[in-house]
Amino acid sequence: VKAPDPKKVLVRFQPHNREIQVAKGENLLQAAMEAGVYIQASCGGEGVCGKCRVLIEKGEAESSRGPKISEEEYGRGLRQACQTRILSDLEVRIPVESELDKRFIARTRERVVAGRKVSHQELESLVLGWCFSPALRKQYVEMEPPTLKDNRSDLSRLLLALKKLYGLEGISVDSRLLKNLPFILREAEWRVTATLVQTRMESQLGEYQLRGSRRTKLIQLEAGDTTKEHYSIVLDIGTTSVWGQLLDLNSRQTLAEASDYNPQIRYGDDVISRIVYSQKPGGLKKLQESVVGTINGIVRELAAKSKIDLARVSHMTAAGNTIMTHLLLGLDPKYIRESPYTPVANFIPPVRAVEVGLEVGEHVHLYTFPSVASYVGGDIVSGILGSGIYQRKPLTLYIDIGTNGEIVIGNSEWMVTAACSAGPAFEGGGIKHGMRATLGAVEDFRLNPVTFEPMLLTVGRVKPKGICGSGLINMVAEFLEAGVISPKGKFNVDLPTPRIRQGSDGMEYVLAYGEDAAIGADIVVTEVDIENLIRAKAAMYAGYVTLLQSVGLAIGNLEQVVIAGAFGSFIDVERAIAIGLLPELPLDRFLFIGNGSLLGARLISFCNEMLDDGERICRMMTNVELSESPSFMDNYVAAMFLPHTNLEEFPGVRQRLAGQK
Ligand code: FES
Repeated sequence: VKAPDPKKVLVRFQPHNREIQVAKGENLLQAAMEAGVYIQASCGGEGVCGKCRVLIEKGEAESSRGPKISEEEYGRGLRQACQTRILSDLEVRIPVESELDKRFIARTRERVVAGRKVSHQELESLVLGWCFSPALRKQYVEMEPPTLKDNRSDLSRLLLALKKLYGLEGISVDSRLLKNLPFILREAEWRVTATLVQTRMESQLGEYQLRGSRRTKLIQLEAGDTTKEHYSIVLDIGTTSVWGQLLDLNSRQTLAEASDYNPQIRYGDDVISRIVYSQKPGGLKKLQESVVGTINGIVRELAAKSKIDLARVSHMTAAGNTIMTHLLLGLDPKYIRESPYTPVANFIPPVRAVEVGLEVGEHVHLYTFPSVASYVGGDIVSGILGSGIYQRKPLTLYIDIGTNGEIVIGNSEWMVTAACSAGPAFEGGGIKHGMRATLGAVEDFRLNPVTFEPMLLTVGRVKPKGICGSGLINMVAEFLEAGVISPKGKFNVDLPTPRIRQGSDGMEYVLAYGEDAAIGADIVVTEVDIENLIRAKAAMYAGYVTLLQSVGLAIGNLEQVVIAGAFGSFIDVERAIAIGLLPELPLDRFLFIGNGSLLGARLISFCNEMLDDGERICRMMTNVELSESPSFMDNYVAAMFLPHTNLEEFPGVRQRLAGQK
């Protein structure tokens, strides 16, 4: 018999007699949502609407008395669920005003945590055969000072010491170092730390000569022994946000993480509008400077968070789509947009980071992930590298869902890829009250199928401000299953609820009335919003199907689905299947890897040999232009339905929907 987990507690909800195991300290409203128990909650969990009252009958919970609960009620055990932390096993009664009739209880099902989210360490083990061998290493050297008998040059003395102590031969030297070499050696009394990098010589760095072997290059000399302080920075340069991590190259640990919006957004939401802006006078420079400024801010934040000296950072690696990479390096993306769509380069040699404007040591080089094509960039290559699917037999679908959705299908033998313009709905764009998944965004949602009242939770548990992409997916899935909308996404106007009403943009559902919302006005989901989401999910689904068809396969052949990206990690798989965004497959085939770009960049920082794998992935991938595939449009039109016009592809969803009638 398995011993009970001491960090978990059991919460039983009455009168439904539903129970759920949650972590000690979990919020009670969240636990109810996970158990599929409905409690009215309109203020996003901020504690101001007072609707989420429950009675704690047994057990320990922490909750201070808010103005919505009288002293007498508090004494009886009445609490606001959203303000309550669970401390032990609990018996909770949902009072009459929040209680539901049997129809609801029959409908709710145990929510399973679908898909697997894995830790950093586990993630790194997705890739086979990598070992800890960073391209950068630091070696401490002590030398005898020169004498009249041994007056060889300073450089020869240093190289000889590196050969004697570490067997390093054929080292090339960054000529920039020579100027200061005699002074550093003498001031440090001939005790220095050398930073060495395994790199290809510049002469080998042509696009087609990248296969040359690597040699050791001396790039930095520091006084004394600094070998214990050895760091690198990895970056994911997204169209919407920029992420960075600071890595300890000795301990293999990630010491800090920081992120910010990509400020290029003010020059255009998507990659095409950024290219257009880059062609205006001074446009390219502005785009480059803005993203570099943000990276510098992230780098400073990383250093502050991990309390390290930035001078000890030896290397940077960045993964971004082709256009983001061009703009970061100040390369003109003009011809990416013009037929036949050519980037300046797919393989870009490392550049000195200070030349780009990055505020790090002069010796630091910036490596950017290679791309496959104009619209299939280094971020996806990095994700494929990090997920290890290029090494394994199972047929895998890899997706990064976002404004510019990316899809890869394949295994260790072959890979096809396509970029898919889904539009901004997943990131809250084009949605009346849409917003990014930040403070106040409704992220989880349940619907009382009898009264059609909402139960909602926001990011940060504050009054709702708007709806983020994953929240919208949850809502549309709930609406569909409760019969609030039709498979075409139209509201059922005959339902007895004032929340469905005619608004300025057509029919809408009121998610939060003004008094419960942070914006002081009603927050609504409109039919136009739902239509935009349907378009976005249809584009993604049609993308997978078309890509599979291009290699003679179908959804049923997929053995694994890897979901990458910040947005991906918020997705509820069951609900994404319910609306037809993800294919209906057994839930254990789904794997979340979070930020795939950072994962691959981290691996490359830790293991130099992985650079070759990144380049191999680029050569393995065949790019398919979806817009040129005649079947894409048919697949798209077929997917413009919830979940799909062909319900045979979604048998489980069909069964659940049929059960509603
Ligand atoms: S008071 Fe708890 S959800 Fe509003």
